[in-house]
Amino acid sequence: MPIKQGDLVILYYEGKKYLLSVKPEIFHTHCGYINLSELEGKSFGDQILSSTGEPFVILKPTLYDYVMKLKRITQIIYPKDLGYILLKLGVGEGKTFLECGTGSGALTCALAYLVGEKGKVISYEREEKFIKIAKENLTKLGLDGRVIIKHKEVIDAFEEREVDGVFLDVRSPWLLLEAAFNALKGGHPIGILVPTTNQVVQTLTTLKSLPFVDIEIVEILLRSYKLNPERFRPEDQMVAHTGYLIFAKKVLSDLVK
Ligand SMILES: C[S@@+](CC[C@H](N)C(=O)[O-])C[C@H]1O[C@@H](n2cnc3c(N)ncnc32)[C@H](O)[C@@H]1O
Repeated sequence: MPIKQGDLVILYYEGKKYLLSVKPEIFHTHCGYINLSELEGKSFGDQILSSTGEPFVILKPTLYDYVMKLKRITQIIYPKDLGYILLKLGVGEGKTFLECGTGSGALTCALAYLVGEKGKVISYEREEKFIKIAKENLTKLGLDGRVIIKHKEVIDAFEEREVDGVFLDVRSPWLLLEAAFNALKGGHPIGILVPTTNQVVQTLTTLKSLPFVDIEIVEILLRSYKLNPERFRPEDQMVAHTGYLIFAKKVLSDLVK
């Protein structure tokens, strides 16, 4: 399908990727400029020349590109962890998910992308300045219609009930576990991300005092490799730590632990 006005595209040049919207605007690079209107009618995979004759490849953005190109004002959840979180929460078409807090909206965008037009994401955030950035990110991706951001500090309860999944990315998630329990449908998952082992221990202790089962704690390590077939080996440096992921499912009867 030919590219049209308003579409999001990636322009790829010598390992650098730019996420851009197709509109009457000039995109300036270190090697000339490109009139973005000229992308209209081209196909993904085509190349476009900059004003100095450098070839940029037009790529179809994926959810990965969207997340990596978001405007960030807080720590975000990166693709390494997002992929597992989305599978563990069972995110899919038409479902409703609850999260706290929104931050820059990386998880919010990923949830909104996958729940589709019939799904919903309800996201709580206490800081107005973060909400502004998260909304900008959602709007850029055309996902704002699927998300309700509530400007509230969650203390002991969410306003929602019977949601398909809850995710907590806050400093003291153990304080919100009961609130999450009450918001969840029976048998459905909660996910939590915390950066330190101290937080894991406190979360786990509270989680075990509540009717949750199928508890899992994991850490995901991702290693990149150099692109040299003659000397194929890992990159020398890697992101060694982002956070610990904790998952569990709600039991309707508090007799089962
Ligand atoms: C690390 S950020 C979330 C990042 C987000 N998951 C992402 O992927 O972009 C944590 C956010 O939670 C918010 N927050 C912490 N405790 C909260 C609470 N009790 N109620 C509402 N928001 C809270 C903070 O203001 C902060 O913006």
